[in-house]
Amino acid sequence: MKVAIQSCKNISGRIDVGGDKSITHRSLIIASLANGTSKIEHYSRCDDCWSTLRAMRSLGVVIKEKGNDLIVHGHGLHGLKEPDNILDCGNSGTTIRLLSGALAGQQFYTILNGDTSLRSRPMDRIITPLRSMGANIKGRSADRFPPLCIQGTRLRSIEYTLPVPSAQVKSAILLAGLQADRCTRIIEPKVSRDHTERLLTMFDADIECHDGTIAVRPGALHASDITVPGDISSAAYFIVLGCLVDQSDIIIKDVGVNPTRTGILDVLMRMGACCTIANERFISNEPIADLTVTTSVLKGITLSPDMVPRIIDELPLLAVTATQAEGTTIVQGAGELRVKETDRISAIVQELKKLGADIHEREDGFIINGPTPLYGARCCSHNDHRIAMSCSIAGLIAQDNTSIDEVSCVAISCPEFFDKIRDLTHEKVCILES
Ligand code: S3P
Repeated sequence: MKVAIQSCKNISGRIDVGGDKSITHRSLIIASLANGTSKIEHYSRCDDCWSTLRAMRSLGVVIKEKGNDLIVHGHGLHGLKEPDNILDCGNSGTTIRLLSGALAGQQFYTILNGDTSLRSRPMDRIITPLRSMGANIKGRSADRFPPLCIQGTRLRSIEYTLPVPSAQVKSAILLAGLQADRCTRIIEPKVSRDHTERLLTMFDADIECHDGTIAVRPGALHASDITVPGDISSAAYFIVLGCLVDQSDIIIKDVGVNPTRTGILDVLMRMGACCTIANERFISNEPIADLTVTTSVLKGITLSPDMVPRIIDELPLLAVTATQAEGTTIVQGAGELRVKETDRISAIVQELKKLGADIHEREDGFIINGPTPLYGARCCSHNDHRIAMSCSIAGLIAQDNTSIDEVSCVAISCPEFFDKIRDLTHEKVCILES
């Protein structure tokens, strides 16, 4: 699909961004491993989460759609069955990495594969710790990439310090740890999203989190109903749009504001964003709130590497934002961006240069001088949902028309992205080819 985008102003409205992708993946996997029936409300209908849902069904779990909810019939930690085919994880790193942990301790054989992008993403980061737990897991090209083959076996507990701050690696070890012989300890030098820990607590796992150490002991999980918070990573595009467009006023309801994910709010507010967080409350062991944003005058910032894990998925969007901020914005310590769905450093630098931004690529980030006017150009999503959405926001603030190729990938995390943008901007986006 290809879209044409015109610059917009004067946007106002109230939006719901859909359920959080990370929490939906985890809800599906954890509810499948629990004893009993769990209901998942406000789940993400994105393509990545369908990959997890299909995989759980192939593993024998009965998952039904009932009205707007999912009903998961879990049969306990050992209630899964050997799939009769390869599990296709599509584009989803969360699916393949979390499932590897969950399947390492099962008494059957599985092969996990994915699309071209997923097959080039690093898997040694999960293979190394899972093998030290005794897992029988192999990957292509000296255990670096998918497909992954797992012959489930008995696991032993480990103590492991995460060399990269990755919630996917942490979660894979936690899911394996539920099936290991004793207490598994994970030491996390830099904090990463903690949805797995919060959900495992809801499902009665024996888990403790203290000062960057997470300890999980083997034991049964009990079913629980979950309401998934709105996805802050999807909300971020609308927040930035509200900041950058003249005469805007946007409210986004029921957004997850888990502190391990709110780096984008902290950074935007430090840049001067007129954004308020109201009506804070808890659902399903996660904090949520209503966010309001209005047109803002922004200044550049230097992002410290410590901050990166809390804003990792929003960094391409931060690059767009920084083109409109007064002064220099420096992002460093973000080399992980190079091993996402595409090399997001190189992709966003290439695309923003086409639009006239003053942006410079660094090995582990980028430097942007602003503000610079952006001018319409022909952009490409690199088949990466976050690059497609970041370029769309850039197109909405650029003079003249911007077109973006290959944008159907937005469905990977936010299938209704263009519908919501069209509603808010009075149809400033038009679908050229579908
Ligand atoms: C995710 C963790 C992050 C993030 C990804 C989703 C998760 O990846 O970039 O979009 O749901 O656990 P890493 O674990 O590789 O940092």
